[in-house]
Amino acid sequence: MLDKKLKVKEIRDLGARNYLLTLISPEQARLTRPGQFVMVKCSGDVQDLPLLRRPFSVFDIRNNPRTGKPAGLDILVKNVGAGTRRLAEARPGDEVHVLGPQGVPFRIPGSMQDRKHTACLVAGGVGIAALLLLARELISLQITPLLFYGGRHLADLVLREHFEQLGIETFYTTEDGSYGERGLVTLPLERLIKARSRVGVHIYACGPWSMMKACHEVSVRHGVPCEVSLEARMGCSLGACMGCVVHAWDQRGEDQYLRVCLEGPVMPSGIVDWNTPPL
Ligand SMILES: Cc1cc2nc3c(=O)[nH]c(=O)nc-3n(C[C@H](O)[C@H](O)[C@H](O)COP(=O)(O)OP(=O)(O)OC[C@H]3O[C@@H](n4cnc5c(N)ncnc54)[C@H](O)[C@@H]3O)c2cc1C
Ligand code: FES
Repeated sequence: MLDKKLKVKEIRDLGARNYLLTLISPEQARLTRPGQFVMVKCSGDVQDLPLLRRPFSVFDIRNNPRTGKPAGLDILVKNVGAGTRRLAEARPGDEVHVLGPQGVPFRIPGSMQDRKHTACLVAGGVGIAALLLLARELISLQITPLLFYGGRHLADLVLREHFEQLGIETFYTTEDGSYGERGLVTLPLERLIKARSRVGVHIYACGPWSMMKACHEVSVRHGVPCEVSLEARMGCSLGACMGCVVHAWDQRGEDQYLRVCLEGPVMPSGIVDWNTPPL
């Protein structure tokens, strides 16, 4: 894991309090696997508030246009509080401390490649940030990804064009009906799984707890594997403070507490206690 002081190369306002930050970091870009995250100290000086770093999925890897080699990271930042506000106010040339990449990435079992599975990528809100690198990797392994992306309004469905540019089939939902189907994202997901019951399907989900819980329930109803990328408030991000634990069960059904920073953020949905969200 690397700890780097990085320059902000670019910041794009995506609307609805979402920002896309491009950070220059060839080494961290080269090491990042789909589903991993970085811990960002949201202020230039390590002593400035907020003191604790904040976790962000790596949305994309930027390649150097000349060499084609990894050169930087894109992170999606939704301004929801003190740390994300500081990042939203960053300007090109500002510096931020970035630790990572870290965390368990999404798994793509060999059986998915053998049997031409369909991968259902399910995103709610900023959960979309965990799924672009995964979509690319699936395509490179000749597995078809489909995107199911839900939000409250059209403005929440940021960055969807990056998936459309990959040529993958997309299913959008909004709670107010302003774009795509009205309702929850699990509606088209379950419809598709029913229609493809005879071919293998794998669910990968990232978003609000209730959405991932609903994806887990769909996966149980249809006997389909499901991996989720969990969100929890993080302190150290190094496995020491236990601030990010989630209640789960081991293979014998015994209680266990898993650290989202170390044993996650990606986990099989079947081991998570969906009645006990992390603090
Ligand atoms: C593995 C992981 C990946 C993430 N990826 C992204 C991403 O790509 N883009 C993005 O915008 N956000 C992402 N988040 C959430 C992001 O880390 C929080 O929004 C951020 O830490 C809030 O910091 P703040 O100082 O602005 O907010 P604070 O002032 O600390 O809190 C403001 C509000 O946000 C809530 N909040 C704070 N931390 C979290 C958290 N970790 N999860 C859920 N709610 C939280 C608080 O309960 C509070 O209501 C991710 C979280 C995790 C654990
Ligand atoms: S954030 Fe400290 S153990 Fe996970």
